[in-house]
Amino acid sequence: MTEQNRLAVLGAGHVGPVIARLAIKAGYPVTIATSGDPQDIALITELIIPGAQPQWASDAVADADIVVLAIPLHRFLDVDPGLLSGRLVIDSMNYWPASDGVLPAFEDGGSSEIVARRLAASTVVKALNHIGYHELEDRARPSGAPDRSAAGVAGDDVAAVATISALVDRIGYDPVGLKSLRAGRALQPGGPVFGSVLARAEFERAVREDARSLT
Ligand SMILES: NC(=O)c1ccc[n+]([C@@H]2O[C@H](COP(=O)([O-])OP(=O)(O)OC[C@H]3O[C@@H](n4cnc5c(N)ncnc54)[C@H](OP(=O)(O)O)[C@@H]3O)[C@@H](O)[C@H]2O)c1
Repeated sequence: MTEQNRLAVLGAGHVGPVIARLAIKAGYPVTIATSGDPQDIALITELIIPGAQPQWASDAVADADIVVLAIPLHRFLDVDPGLLSGRLVIDSMNYWPASDGVLPAFEDGGSSEIVARRLAASTVVKALNHIGYHELEDRARPSGAPDRSAAGVAGDDVAAVATISALVDRIGYDPVGLKSLRAGRALQPGGPVFGSVLARAEFERAVREDARSLT
C-alpha cells in the first residue's frame, strides 16, 4: 500500500466525520457511509466533511485500502463480515453498555479481539477509539509539535500496525504501537489511557504500568 491509501469511514455520527476530516487534511482520499442511502448524507457531507465522497457502504469498502469502523458496537453486530473480507480495518469502536445495551459477547475481555474473531477474514487494528471526538480534532498537531499527543495503535499484524501508525502520525498524533489486540485492552474503557489525551512519554508510562498490573 502507498501513502495514498484510500479510506472508507463507516459511520457519520460523532467520530466518523472527525476521522474523515483529519484524514482528508492529511491527504487521504476518503469515502464515508452509513447503513443507508448516501444521498441522505450528501448535503451534510459537503458542509461538514468537504472533500469526502458519500457512498453506499459496500461501494466505499470495495474501493478502500483501509476501512474505519466508526459505528456503535451494537450496530456492528449487523455488519456482514463478508463485506470487510480481506480489508485492513481500524476498529475505533468501544463497548459502552450505557448506549450499546448489555452485549453478552462483549462483557468479558477485549472488544477488538472479539471484533477480530468476527472479522476473521480481515486484519483488525485497534486505533482512534480512546480520544473523544472533540479532542481528537482539537488536539491533532503536526509531527514535531512540542504539544503533540499520543494515540495507541494495537494489533496482532506487525505490517498492519505500521500502516495504521503511519496514518495516525499523518493525522496528527504520535503513534504508540501495542504489540497485540490483547495489549490493546489498555486503550478501551476502563483502561489507563481511555478518555485522556497524553503526551507520548506519559502515555507509554501509563500503558506500561497497566501491563505490569495485569501480569
Ligand atoms: N463519540 C466519540 O467521541 C468517540 C470517540 C472515539 C470512538 N468512538 C466510538 O465510535 C463508535 C461510534 O461512536 P459515535 O459517537 O460516532 O456514534 P454515533 O454518533 O451514534 O454514530 C453512529 C454512525 O454509525 C452509522 N452506522 C450504524 N450502523 C452502520 C453500518 N452498518 N454501516 C455504516 N454506518 C453505520 C450511523 O448511521 P445510520 O444509523 O444512518 O446507519 C451513524 O452515522 C462507538 O463505538 C464509540 O464508542 C466514539
